[in-house]
Amino acid sequence: MSELIELAKRRGYFFQSNEAYGGAAGFYTYGPQGASLKRNVEEAWRDRFVVREGNVEIDAPTVTPEPVFEASGHLDGFDDMLVECPECGESHRADHLVEDASDVEDAETYPPEEVAELIADLDLECPSCGADLAGESVEEFNLMFETGIGPGSGQAAYLRPETAQGMFVEFPRLKEYARNQLPFGVAQIGNGYRNEISPRNALLRAREFTMAELELFVDPEEDRPDLDAVADVELPLYSAARQEADGEEYQYLTPQAALDEGVVNGEWVAYFLAVSKRWFERVGVDMDRFRFRQHLPGELAHYASDCWDAEAEVDGDWVELEGVANRTDYDLEKHAKHSDENFTVFKQYDEPKTVERVTVDPDMSYLGPEFGGAAADVADALETLAERDRAAFDDDEVTVEVDGEEHAVPVEKTGFSVDEVTESGEHVTPHVIEPAFGVGRVVYSVLAHSLHTDEVDDEERQVLRLPPEVAPTTVGVFPMMDKDGMGELARDLAADLRARGIDVTYDDSGNIGRRYRRQDEVGTPYCVTVDYESLEDGEARRASDSASGDEPRAGTVTLRERDSTDQVRVAIDDLPHLLADLRAGERSFDDLR
Ligand code: GAP
Repeated sequence: MSELIELAKRRGYFFQSNEAYGGAAGFYTYGPQGASLKRNVEEAWRDRFVVREGNVEIDAPTVTPEPVFEASGHLDGFDDMLVECPECGESHRADHLVEDASDVEDAETYPPEEVAELIADLDLECPSCGADLAGESVEEFNLMFETGIGPGSGQAAYLRPETAQGMFVEFPRLKEYARNQLPFGVAQIGNGYRNEISPRNALLRAREFTMAELELFVDPEEDRPDLDAVADVELPLYSAARQEADGEEYQYLTPQAALDEGVVNGEWVAYFLAVSKRWFERVGVDMDRFRFRQHLPGELAHYASDCWDAEAEVDGDWVELEGVANRTDYDLEKHAKHSDENFTVFKQYDEPKTVERVTVDPDMSYLGPEFGGAAADVADALETLAERDRAAFDDDEVTVEVDGEEHAVPVEKTGFSVDEVTESGEHVTPHVIEPAFGVGRVVYSVLAHSLHTDEVDDEERQVLRLPPEVAPTTVGVFPMMDKDGMGELARDLAADLRARGIDVTYDDSGNIGRRYRRQDEVGTPYCVTVDYESLEDGEARRASDSASGDEPRAGTVTLRERDSTDQVRVAIDDLPHLLADLRAGERSFDDLR
């Protein structure tokens, strides 16, 4: 990790923010290389999860009024376990201390009192000052950053801990844009904020980080994913059952096999695991250090019925890069309850249906005097009973229970009736399938998996084997030497490539070997060198073109590939298309040899 952090700092990938003022833990700035890599990862995500899936993207505010999080459950349930050192006052994630010092892998699923007991049993000490932590209480700590809207006491608000709530709260409008047709997906790439108790490992546990989230709204009865499109993907699955059975490792199954064997319990979840795996491979996560781990029952977020984490191995630890969760109708039902808006969609039947509708319309002039203050509750209980068990109204009297007390009501006073009605459709609350990615964690893992040391010309070299699509710079352009017109030609070439939207670095300082090493270290997949042959080829071609009256062509350059360090000679005129194709994966360097 230190090698990566050192490279990230030196080469402008990322570094701690505000160091001039001592910095604040958990905040990172992406330098020029890192910002470009991050942008390319986000573009690849947008291409896969928005464009190719036929979804749309929104951009909601990060400051969110308190009632949203009251409804979503974050105000009550978005906590981590904290233990404070009695000597130095430093706060620590209690479950992480236990996990680091024992075989326990899921301490966050334990109640706080049990974690406090484990801290005492394991004789744990404060990692900062070494003081004894035994006997210290373990508290739940809400991770949201609190703020206020407007001057004075203002309106209580929080920085969003997930972008997802933006999609849920705006659902009543978004469903109109989707013309009330399920399924439809809404995505967002933006920053989330969590006041982590102990931020660590740079981008891996930060307090402000970019998330890329898709909320797919589906009709759970009808909508099905295109499993054929991902039929050949082998998913490395570490189910909750395997985690609980000692010594069992993960297994490879296709989405259909995982569903048939009951390892994954939802087609949409299986589909997005497969789409995600292909995407992680595309952006440079090493598939030999990658798995999907199912959440254990006690680990599930308050809103999820099932969740699988995409995890990458980094420095011996498994790091969660993405969660694919089935959020059911939890969020939309909560917002419907707490607000005045309609969070359902109207599902039109193919043909109108005649259905029996049960109604109760109690005679309050009877219920009032008979049941006094309990009359309204008795009326509600009658309504609920009629929906659940209409046979209860078959006799002369029906009995309901309110606050543990039984109340008998003559059926003729309940206004009970069963009528046949014709309905053209029904209101359904969509279910939500959510693939949620941490962009910083993806960037970090891609860097960690791409960083290699090898030997070139008897010299050790550090090389970032980033896929061309996400590499910050696509091509380095160098003159062999800045003389005899080579510098001029190289600068013109760099300007021309930039004008065509290609990321270029121009470098004419130091010997050519050093320049190659510099680009290898920041992951530039290709380098182009203008040499004497470039000038000679150019002159020869121009002479022959002017004799034949053809459009004058430029000369040739060498094109070097980062990983193999092999070089081929290519025509300058072909370079823009060639580089675009190589970046998009439409051609490979082997085609040019
Ligand atoms: N809307 C669902 C949601 O928020 P999550 O698993 O809490 O789910 C999504 O977060 C992703 O955000 C995680 O899979 C992880 O990659 C990333 N993430 C979470 N906390 C993070 C942190 N403190 N620093 C960096 N990334 C984080």
